[in-house]
Amino acid sequence: MPVGPHPLPWPDDPRLDPHLLAEGDGRNVEDRFRYWRREAIVAELDTTRHPLHVAIENFQHDFNIGSVVRTANAFNVAAVHIVGRRRWNRRGAMVTDRYQHVEHHPEPADLLTLGLPILGIDNIGGSVPLEGARMPRECVLLFGQEGPGLSAESLAICQQVLHITQYGSTRSINAGAAAAIAMWAWALQHAGGS
Ligand SMILES: C[S@@+](CC[C@H](N)C(=O)[O-])C[C@H]1O[C@@H](n2cnc3c(N)ncnc32)[C@H](O)[C@@H]1O
Repeated sequence: MPVGPHPLPWPDDPRLDPHLLAEGDGRNVEDRFRYWRREAIVAELDTTRHPLHVAIENFQHDFNIGSVVRTANAFNVAAVHIVGRRRWNRRGAMVTDRYQHVEHHPEPADLLTLGLPILGIDNIGGSVPLEGARMPRECVLLFGQEGPGLSAESLAICQQVLHITQYGSTRSINAGAAAAIAMWAWALQHAGGS
């Protein structure tokens, strides 16, 4: 819900944006960030980012990527990594990518330069249940695309592949939903409820 314009006199705070104070703030941000400049919000988030990285393959312009970015912002992850094509469908991100570090990598193997364990999230032969699995505090969660799932190149760099147990008839849930569940599972183990 939009707030403002802010009544006069305005607070003396360099984090605040005079334009938003004058016109009102209709952005989808938490109340603590009302009227803040975008750069100030990013700087504040940077002080508390989790050591979790999220990566998703983008070889077919998967429509789920925006949703993954939005959830990654909500969990304040270190960065989102787009693997494959540089252009991605931003619709589901709801402009949260403006507050998130988003990096591009042409090939899955480029993720190895992060120097972190890479956990594939997919329901394939040999994957183990996410439920009950211990996830490293510092790691990359790597998601596949609608249709093919994780590519062979991505599977080759995964230390482990975890699946979300399903109980119905569909072969899979969408990658955006899977990413939200996996990030929440990581947060249960490492975010301490903060
Ligand atoms: C729609 S799925 C397609 C692949 C899926 N392996 C299949 O057999 O149909 C696209 C992506 O969503 C994620 N995903 C979907 N369902 C999942 C599940 N039950 N467990 C873990 N990841 C899942 C994975 O990252 C997967 O690569």
